[in-house]
Amino acid sequence: MTNEKCRVLVHEDLGSGYRRIVFDAPAIASASAPGQFVHVRVPALEKSALRRPFSVFDASSGQVTILYKTVGRGTAALNAVKPGDEIAVMGPLGHGFPQKCAGVPLLVGGGYGVAPLHFLAKRLKGCKLFIGGRTAADLLAIDKFKALGIEVFMATNDGSAGVKGLVTDPLDDELAKMRERGEKFELFACGPDPMLKAVAMRATGTGSKGWISMDRHMVCGVGACYACIQKTVRGNSRCCVEGPVFAAEDLVW
Ligand code: FES
Repeated sequence: MTNEKCRVLVHEDLGSGYRRIVFDAPAIASASAPGQFVHVRVPALEKSALRRPFSVFDASSGQVTILYKTVGRGTAALNAVKPGDEIAVMGPLGHGFPQKCAGVPLLVGGGYGVAPLHFLAKRLKGCKLFIGGRTAADLLAIDKFKALGIEVFMATNDGSAGVKGLVTDPLDDELAKMRERGEKFELFACGPDPMLKAVAMRATGTGSKGWISMDRHMVCGVGACYACIQKTVRGNSRCCVEGPVFAAEDLVW
């Protein structure tokens, strides 16, 4: 884990409250693995010394990319950061996804939960992506996944992209076809809790491996504050240290 002063290279508005930041971070980029996160000190909030956690969307060539949605004071303040500014970044943090898969890797993402899945898709071969959101505007980075040659299945609540319904609808269709063909799979998920629980149940219910990235409030990011507790079969676990990625069978809902 490193603390780096990082020069912002790109800060792009993706629409509908979503944004992308690319920053120079050679040490963090070279050490990052899919599913890990970085903790960013937001310049406008430096007096409060609070950092915000962001999954690593990409880490290559000495650069780190994050995706975020403006949802509160911290991310609203981050909107003001411009290319050329310096931000303090700590990372990589946490326990990420395994980078081996016995079978077809099925990635399931909701909203900006696709962020760690993109980095993972660059490391695992033959992935399929299931992505869901309220509307088409919540389906992020589809072009980036397709550029990796990944088959993409979409679902939206309003039917504006893909099937109308939940992301588990196309997932269940594909799982049924794979079962008929006798294909093995593992599930990798990041998104809102109800979706994560549904994916975890499909993993444990089929005797398959599932890897679930929990989205919790990370205050310190390094295991000291206990703000990010998740119940597991081993008791309370800290998402910032023991997670954010947990085996599906270890989670208690
Ligand atoms: Fe402080 Fe996890 S964020 S213990």
